Formats: sequence, C-alpha cells, structure tokens
Amino acid sequence: MSWTKSILVTGGAGFIGSHVIRRLISKYPNYRIVNFDKLTYAGNLENLKDIDHMDNYVFCKGDICDPTSIQDAFNKYEITDVIHLAAESHVDRSISGPMEFVITNVVGTVNLLNVAKSSWKVYSNHIFYHISTDEVYGSLGEEGLFEETTPYDPRSPYSASKASSDHFVRAYHHTYGLQVKLSNCSNNYGSHQFPEKLIPLMIHNVLNNKELPVYGDGKNIRDWLWVVDHAIAIDEIFHNGKNGETYNIGGLNEWTNIELVKTICSLLDKKLDRPADSSEKLITYVKDRAGHDRRYAIDASKIENDLGWKPSITFEEGLSKTIDWYLANSAWIENVTSGEYRNYYQQQYEERG
Ligand code: NAD
Ligand code: DAU
Repeated sequence: MSWTKSILVTGGAGFIGSHVIRRLISKYPNYRIVNFDKLTYAGNLENLKDIDHMDNYVFCKGDICDPTSIQDAFNKYEITDVIHLAAESHVDRSISGPMEFVITNVVGTVNLLNVAKSSWKVYSNHIFYHISTDEVYGSLGEEGLFEETTPYDPRSPYSASKASSDHFVRAYHHTYGLQVKLSNCSNNYGSHQFPEKLIPLMIHNVLNNKELPVYGDGKNIRDWLWVVDHAIAIDEIFHNGKNGETYNIGGLNEWTNIELVKTICSLLDKKLDRPADSSEKLITYVKDRAGHDRRYAIDASKIENDLGWKPSITFEEGLSKTIDWYLANSAWIENVTSGEYRNYYQQQYEERG
C-alpha cells in the first residue's frame, strides 16, 4: 500500500491522542497513522482496542526523550507529518515533580523538532503540529477571555513546560522554516480520561463511595470541551490551518469546580437510582493546589470564523455520555488505576490530610 501520508501521532495511547487516532484512522484510510507512545502510567493501548486491527494503524513503542527511537520511527515508517500530543499532562504531578515535565515536554519536543528538521527535505510538504493548552496564558480575573494574542504567563511547572515547548515550535518555524501549526485548548472531558483529572476522578470516587476532594473554596473556573470536539478541531487545523499559526480551541462552557462536581453527583444519583443528594455528601473541601489558577476561558472565534469549527454537542449531552461510558467500563478504570497510580494517590491523600 502506498500511503498519501504517514503521520506520527505522539502520545496516541493517552486520553486525547486516542480520540485523535480513532478519528484519523476511520476518516482517512489512505493515511498510515503511527502511534508513537512510551506507555507511561497515562498511556494505555486498551484505549484503542476498537481500531487496532485496522490496516492503516501501527503502534510503535518509543520515547520522545530518546532521539534514536524517534529517528528509527521516522526511517521505518517514512514519516511525512507529526501531530505531537505526548506530554506529562497533570498539573498536580508537575508541582510534586517538575523535572519530569521539563524533560518530557520541553526536551522531548525539541528532540522531535530536530528529527523532523533533519529528516524532511522540502519543508512545505510536511506539517509539524503541536497540541498545547490554554494554561500557557496564565489565570483570568472575573472578566475576559484568552485570545491567540494574549501574552504568555504560565504559572505552574506544567504550563511553563508547555509554554516553553510552544516557543520552541515557533522558533523552528522562524529560524529553520519548518511548517508548523499550534493549538491551545481548554479542559477536555470524555471517555478514556485517566481518573486523576477532575471529572473522571469524581465519577470514580462516587462509585467507590470515597470522598470527593474539592480544592480550596471550589470556585476556580474551568472551560470544558468534549474530547471528540477537540479531535475534530485538530483534524480541521491539521488539514486547513495556516502555516505558522496558532488556534485557540474551547466551547464557551465555564463552570466553577464545585458546581460541576455537584452536577456530576446529581447525574450519578439519577443514573444509579440512588436518593437525591447521596453522592453530594461525599464532597470534602481539601487544601488548595499550590499556585492554583483561578479562571480559564477561551475565545475560539478564530477557529470558528476561519475554519468553521464549533462544538458538536452541548455540555449536558457530553457529560451524560461521559458518565455512561465510565459506568459501562468499570474494568477499564480498574485496570488503569492499579499499580503505580494507586500508590501515587494513596500518598496524595495522606499529604492532603
Ligand atoms: P495524557 O496524560 O492522557 O496522555 C499523554 C500520553 O503521552 C500518554 O499516552 C503517555 O504514555 C505519552 N507519553 C508521555 N511521555 C512520553 C514520552 N516521553 N514519549 C512518548 N510518549 C509519552 O494526556 P492528554 O490529556 O491526552 O493530553 C495530550 C496533550 O494535549 C498534551 O500535550 C497536553 O498538554 C495537551 N492538552 C491536554 C488537555 C486536557 O484537558 N487533557 C487540554 C489541552 C491540551
Ligand atoms: O486547561 C487545559 C488543562 O486542563 C490541560 O492542559 C491539562 O493537561 C489538564 O490536566 C487540565 O488541567 P487542570 O489542572 O485544569 O485539570 P484538573 O482536572 O487537574 O483540575 C480541574 C480543576 O479541578 C482545577 O481547578 C483543580 C480542581 N480539582 C482537581 C482535582 C484533580 C479539584 O478541585 N479536585 C481534584 O481532585
């Protein structure tokens, strides 16, 4: 088979990466999709078991911190494009161990850029697309939205590492002429999200009758987007976005953490046929996250106007579908929350008290 593109998707066994791969595999049978993933605690090949038999899918175990393993994948699969999602992605882990974030998110990204730069001959034939986060813009007050022109102001080790990798991607565009695209997205939710992030953690804890830890006063605000809509936006930007440009992605869907947790509780009570308020009783206010950003909110008008993208479903629908998926996939949760994860969380709970 001669492929029209052979795309290296890094971090494809993770939450967002698996949704991106699922979309590309089925929509573009002429593309070979190479899932390049180290399989850290956050990567799980089970996330792709519905599509891993497809002819245009290949899994390649590799580490973006190891330039040789990237080069081998480029050579073996004649990589034409990169969609780069591999990262350490959890803010709390970046607070307890920043160096891992520097190594994976910054050094790993530069390793990938170097291999792309030296392997590709005519840069205009190839795209290096970096998936990033709205957290690079810092924290908002009560008013305003993050725009593509908002100055960078990262405040956690995670966002500082993502800001740095964004800058490196732009630097390789300006200095060497690599064709690059970037997007900065708000908080994603949906199926296959590792249950250390707010929404799946709360669902998991309700199901296990464990406390629901809400940081600080619970009034921090996040702007939530269904992961499938993020994958659709990535597809759109990869194909139709402009060289060297950045696109913000978000659904104008702001929630305080406490209101969101209460909504999850009430949906679960209904779906599990439990008395109203039984899950809410598990809510426990705990010590705040260090340097906790107060509010994120995205202005997505550029991607809406230029590329015609907008979220395909409402938050009510997306949240309900998401809860249904976790209820139907308790084996997945059991699997990913065994071993290293369990030890890490035990320690977190003990430290928070
Ligand atoms: P995730 O933690 O679920 O998955 C990360 C994946 O990267 C895992 O499969 C892991 O095995 C892999 N990985 C980690 N280190 C690696 C290495 N050294 N080499 C190869 N693979 C490695 O993350 P996610 O939530 O799916 O986020 C994906 C990307 O999207 C990240 O770059 C993140 O910064 C960005 N992002 C996430 C969100 C969100 O809400 N989750 C929002 C905006 C942007
Ligand atoms: O904004 C995009 C970012 O969203 C991504 O770049 C990150 O990879 C992703 O992890 C996410 O970061 P957040 O820190 O916003 O997500 P998290 O799910 O960890 O937390 C969401 C909010 O909920 C945040 O204000 C902290 C709070 N929280 C979180 C957890 C895990 C709690 O109150 N209790 C919790 O137990």
